[in-house]
Amino acid sequence: MITASIALVALSMAAALLMARSITKPVAELTKGAEIIGRGNLGHRVETKSGDEIGELTLAFNQMTAKRQRVEAELKDSEERYRSLFENAAEGILVADAETKKFLYANPAVCEMLGYSQSELVKLSIYDIHPEDKLEHVVSEFESQAGGEESLANDIPCSRKDGRIVYADVNAATIILDGSKCNVGFFTDITHRKRAESALKEIDLNKLIAHFENMLKRLIGEDISFTTVLGPKIGLIRADPGQVEQIIMNLAVNACDAMPKGGKITIETRSTNLDAAYCEQHSEVEPGVYVVMSVSDTGHGMDDETKEKIFEPFFTTKGLGKGTGLGLATVYGIVKQSGGHIRVCSEIDRGTTFKVYFPQTRLSAPPGQESVEPVIRKGSERVLLVEDDEALRKFTVKALERFGYNVRQAANGEQALVTVRERREQIDLLITDVVMPGMSGLELGRQTHTLIPGIKVLYISGYTENAIVHHGILDKGISLLQKPFTAQSLAHKVREVLDS
Ligand SMILES: Nc1ncnc2c1ncn2[C@@H]1O[C@H](COP(=O)(O)OP(=O)(O)OP(=O)(O)O)[C@@H](O)[C@H]1O
Ligand SMILES: [Mg+2]
Repeated sequence: MITASIALVALSMAAALLMARSITKPVAELTKGAEIIGRGNLGHRVETKSGDEIGELTLAFNQMTAKRQRVEAELKDSEERYRSLFENAAEGILVADAETKKFLYANPAVCEMLGYSQSELVKLSIYDIHPEDKLEHVVSEFESQAGGEESLANDIPCSRKDGRIVYADVNAATIILDGSKCNVGFFTDITHRKRAESALKEIDLNKLIAHFENMLKRLIGEDISFTTVLGPKIGLIRADPGQVEQIIMNLAVNACDAMPKGGKITIETRSTNLDAAYCEQHSEVEPGVYVVMSVSDTGHGMDDETKEKIFEPFFTTKGLGKGTGLGLATVYGIVKQSGGHIRVCSEIDRGTTFKVYFPQTRLSAPPGQESVEPVIRKGSERVLLVEDDEALRKFTVKALERFGYNVRQAANGEQALVTVRERREQIDLLITDVVMPGMSGLELGRQTHTLIPGIKVLYISGYTENAIVHHGILDKGISLLQKPFTAQSLAHKVREVLDS
């Protein structure tokens, strides 16, 4: 009996011991682990031993903890990312309570823009950072942003701590922060842009160039000839006149530098329609009518490698102390600011053409404002016109007669030479197409020169003057009119040649 009782006690003690080993101890460890993890040590893991239910429970517990650790790390990571976005954003970010309009957060960019510190800004509200007389407008913009009716408020005046007024475009989004609705405003500082824009005027590029011409001639010096070919009715552009002069100046100086032994600079203007097809190839260009100013030289040109870098600030191929490399970077900046773009064509030893495109604002100023159409002087000189294209010949004869000239015509070089021989003293100007079947315009020009020394010659051609100059077709001092031309540009050019 006693033995039996002892055996029973021993058995129950053994069972209790077993229990403590396999259940109580692991459960206690699990509880301890939960406490450690609860204190924030997510890296803690509970040791697993048995392969039974308790062991599985511990495994599941550990997996849960690991997952929690991962989620928290991700959360922290994304929080840090947002904080860094917020802190480093170039745009100002200001969060305001939608009801009270008090500021809750301000990033460094908006602090800089408004001249306050972060701690100062969060003590202020929308009523403190805008000029008083503009408050009504600003508050109504804020309210329609908070109400989700609009997101962008343009041209919002803000008063800095030092009293200066700056302007911002404010793009807003609404969020819920700690249970209250907030307006997150993204501020883009447009003060500089506004100031620059106010210097922009509607200008006639032809007039500007004409006024600037004498100054340029002096700048260019004697070894280099300088010609302007100003297109008729090119329309108006919006730009800062002083800056446009700077563009011309920088391009002209570069052209001179590229022609140490002399050469020719040509400035041309015309208007052109850049269509959708063109703009597809040049993604940064909007379709529309542009005023183009080309500045061409007959200098040493550039290779492709140089061409790629010329607009970079401080890029120069000129020796130390000679060039800053800022000339074209400046040009580029001004052109972009006027909504335009710039292209360059250049080949080694074939010269360079820069083409600057400005969007045309309109064709002419309204009545009362100054007229942009140049006054074209008439003439009564005797002109021999040689052109194989009959339609163009008729048009040109008519145009010349309208401007008072006495015109004879020929359809080819051979026919023209007959007239030249017959009427030597009675021809003041030969106007001839360059490319014709039979005798070329250039050959005709040469022969006419020997027959009538000192005669003025004006070539008309579909090739640009620059291309012809580059390929050595035209001699210096000989004029060219690009096809197609209008009656006005023809008359303008004819006077220029006759008066030269
Ligand atoms: N008309 C041109 N013909 C040949 N190369 C040119 C021409 N215009 C510019 N370049 C090249 O582009 C480079 C950059 O021109 P940019 O006007 O920016 O600077 P720079 O003329 O060298 O210096 P800076 O304008 O300060 O005198 C020049 O160094 C030159 O190599
Ligand atoms: Mg330069």
